[in-house]
Amino acid sequence: MESLLSVRGLVKRYAGVHALAGVDLDVCPGEVHAIVGENGAGKTTFLKILSGALHPDAGELRFGGAPLPLGSPRASESCGIVAIYQEFTLIPALTATQNIFLGHETDVAGHGAARRSAMRTRSARLLGDLLGDTAGSGGVDPERPVRELSVPERQMVEIARALSRESRLILMDEPTATLTAQETARLHDAVRRLRTRGVSVLYISHRLEEVLSVADRVTVLRDGRRVETVAVEEATLDRLIRGMVGRSISERYPKEAGRAGGMLLEIRPSDGLAVHVRAGEVVGLAGLVGSGRTELVRAVFGAERRPDLAFAWCGRPVRPVAPREAIRLGIGMVPEDRQGQGLVPGLGVDVNIALPNLDRLRAGWLPARGGPRRLAEPLIRDLRIRLADPSQPVRSLSGGNQQKVVLAKWLARRSRLLILDEPTRGIDVGAKQEMYRLMNQLIRDGKGVLLISSDLPEVIAMSDRLYVMRRHRVVAELDARGASPETVMAHATGLRG
Ligand SMILES: Nc1ncnc2c1ncn2[C@@H]1O[C@H](COP(=O)(O)OP(=O)(O)OP(=O)(O)O)[C@@H](O)[C@H]1O
Ligand SMILES: [Mg+2]
Repeated sequence: MESLLSVRGLVKRYAGVHALAGVDLDVCPGEVHAIVGENGAGKTTFLKILSGALHPDAGELRFGGAPLPLGSPRASESCGIVAIYQEFTLIPALTATQNIFLGHETDVAGHGAARRSAMRTRSARLLGDLLGDTAGSGGVDPERPVRELSVPERQMVEIARALSRESRLILMDEPTATLTAQETARLHDAVRRLRTRGVSVLYISHRLEEVLSVADRVTVLRDGRRVETVAVEEATLDRLIRGMVGRSISERYPKEAGRAGGMLLEIRPSDGLAVHVRAGEVVGLAGLVGSGRTELVRAVFGAERRPDLAFAWCGRPVRPVAPREAIRLGIGMVPEDRQGQGLVPGLGVDVNIALPNLDRLRAGWLPARGGPRRLAEPLIRDLRIRLADPSQPVRSLSGGNQQKVVLAKWLARRSRLLILDEPTRGIDVGAKQEMYRLMNQLIRDGKGVLLISSDLPEVIAMSDRLYVMRRHRVVAELDARGASPETVMAHATGLRG
């Protein structure tokens, strides 16, 4: 079949880095083509060149049989290529309908009220088609302001907007990173419907199982080069991982059993089960997105006021009212929302890692110029943060590598208890393995870990004990070794207990 998109020898260089070093790729009409690769492999760069946000250094791109104009978002869009970004480009105060037709209202016949009503009908139709609701708009009210819609609903509006412009290729960069399992399934259904309409999708994800279920073909990138493109029937998890990281991963979750020691943290709510974490153990906190896990740990950290909770630290009652107090006790937290969490994008990676640790630099070695670098280097290595130079600005790192910098900041603090909220979201399989090894190391060193993860197999395999939350209450405590995803889900959804 004639390709819709054909890319030959695509090159993009940054100072010292070959983000793309000559990539070839073809996308057929109506094909879902996934791109996988480690953090920093060049996936986002590839999409940004197609969407016109970045200008390549070399390469030939053809779309629909004609050369694709380069470096112009408007030109890409008018050719029929639209990117659905993680940060939304919709205008929050406008309704879904207004957003869908923004800038091309005149495509809809009629004037004034007649046109508005026609646009409403069209957007309801587009949303309904995407969501498999032939009679309605799939539960998304086209007249609601976008600011009142949930993340997955906004995604649907973005896709509907692309369809209203007759887009032929939709680019999705980690679209499911913050979605629940159910929302992910809905997005995948929408992607499959796009395919039956002949629309192609380029789909980036670190969730390899997802890729295997939604894609027709998968391209593996590594260090800015294409390793291979395989039909999904021939792709296996192991093959993809080998392509991405250059080796097989024999044990997905290399958990070492903890040896619970002295009591670190106790949380006693006025309602529901109490939670405790001892030195030398990993305690998992499972539950559906929105069940109150993040809220609970933010309260521990003094970032949220919860008069209904009583806390004890090493056996003594405490009530942290600010993160700095929690930090002084020896509690560290890698937050879920890592975008807004204190990275200074223009400063170097080493300085960012050192910033919350200046006390250590002063108390320990001299506040010498090499201080931040010496502190940062082992962490950069352990977490495999991909960079050209430790003093390179954080802004120039790929998304996943920026997340690892936040992890490194907290790991450098050497807290006695580390709270990890979705620590492996958005990071590649290889880096996940390093994360797991670090957790093993932490508990071997007698520290405690409180792990929140929506990845059920992960939280079960990597914890010693598990708590399950439902509707802001802790409803079950389980031995992680005996737990199955089904049991945990049953508690989380209220089908049991
Ligand atoms: N503005 C920039 N300046 C310098 N280097 C950059 C810049 N933008 C990206 N890079 C580098 O280009 C490489 C590819 O980055 P890219 O964002 O495409 O990776 P990715 O595959 O999307 O990774 P992730 O899975 O972490 O999102 C990385 O090594 C990154 O550090
Ligand atoms: Mg990326």
